[in-house]
Amino acid sequence: MSEPIWKKSASVAVPEAVMRFLAGQDVVLDRELLPFDIRASRAHARGLARIGLLSDEQAGAIGRELDALSEAFAAGEFVLDDRFEDGHSAIEAWLTARLGETGKRIHAGRSRNDQVAVALRLYLLDRLDRLRDIALAIAEVALARAEREADVALPGHTHLQQAMPSSLGLWWAGHAEAFVDDADLAVRIREHLNASPLGTASGFGVNLALDRDGVAEELDFDRLVVNPQNAQAQRGKAELRALDALSAATGDLRRLAWDLSLFASQEFGFVTVPAAFCTGSSIMPNKHNPDAVELLRALHATVVGARAELESVLSLPSGYQRDLQDTKPPVLRAFARGLEGLALLPGLLGGLSWNVERMASAIRPAQYATDRANELVAEGLSFRDAYRRVGDELDALEARSPADSLAARVSLGGCGRLGLERIRARADALRPAAGD
Ligand code: ARG
Repeated sequence: MSEPIWKKSASVAVPEAVMRFLAGQDVVLDRELLPFDIRASRAHARGLARIGLLSDEQAGAIGRELDALSEAFAAGEFVLDDRFEDGHSAIEAWLTARLGETGKRIHAGRSRNDQVAVALRLYLLDRLDRLRDIALAIAEVALARAEREADVALPGHTHLQQAMPSSLGLWWAGHAEAFVDDADLAVRIREHLNASPLGTASGFGVNLALDRDGVAEELDFDRLVVNPQNAQAQRGKAELRALDALSAATGDLRRLAWDLSLFASQEFGFVTVPAAFCTGSSIMPNKHNPDAVELLRALHATVVGARAELESVLSLPSGYQRDLQDTKPPVLRAFARGLEGLALLPGLLGGLSWNVERMASAIRPAQYATDRANELVAEGLSFRDAYRRVGDELDALEARSPADSLAARVSLGGCGRLGLERIRARADALRPAAGD
């Protein structure tokens, strides 16, 4: 490892093993954060130029070298590895190696404490945008299939017992609306987190007239985290809020995956999961297992685990504590795995094929009991009397056509009136305007 940026002439050398322990996985984790750290460093340099701490030429040179670092990193020519203590040190080392004295000026008015906070904040906003986009893409596939398969009968269950005849339209629309809710939450949480901690330095401000507002604006933040102590208190807390949005989506994914693995079982036999999402068994030649569905179901556990880990790390007093470094692994892991899995869903959902016959024939006459009771209500009977009468004569209920039952379910949202346009209108409103 090269000399740490905090090394002073009189510093006692920290043994390699201790340095390694302190750095942990930092250089590996910071690979995800580096592009955001570079962006924030560029804005910080321009801010320093505005208050006369860098000349325009110096700020320009730093900007160009940061662009070069960005390109070299993307091309794999610059590798963030254990030559450095962390990504922040690597940026300063790059600038100093390329620009000498000018490079050494980049850290004026900032600390790694606000540097990592702003990089993480930009990362979270970016991942929340992706989460919104993926949730909307899932909702889109589900809405399109709800429209196409609106009238396909599906036995409805409560308590995993047969309840009322339902439809693929209602099932698809239910999952579509859930993912629209999740996109909505991602947008709201993004708004809640859209504040810049940069310029709070180590947690106490600095005796330099930093242009915090200008830097925040350049980075597209809506506002500042004003108080430096609170900027550090928000580390981990902001990540928890972002994970709230992610876990809403992975929680919905878990329910959807459960439905599919149940429906795909031989006992149900309602759906076939596309072969591209299945594997076989190493011993049972007959097996065709929907593994992808199961691992998608398990994704939520990763997010819940990340939240628990974060909550545990955050048992801290005010001010920066190095413990905060350990908030990074669970957050980066949960977003990487969570978004990777969620992104598979549009393809998986688009490829499902239903056994329409089997679903229709699984509906037994007793499932029409509630429809029958409501028909008697429409004829003037009180609901309780109608309920009892139908309940006493369950065996006398005749098989009907599910199509009639579904078409008659006209309460808004029900099988006969899915209200897809309302769900779609909400999804459309959440899509960013072109150019945003
Ligand atoms: N890797 C550190 C973190 O994630 C960066 C900040 C280091 N600050 C410090 N005062 N040692 O928190």
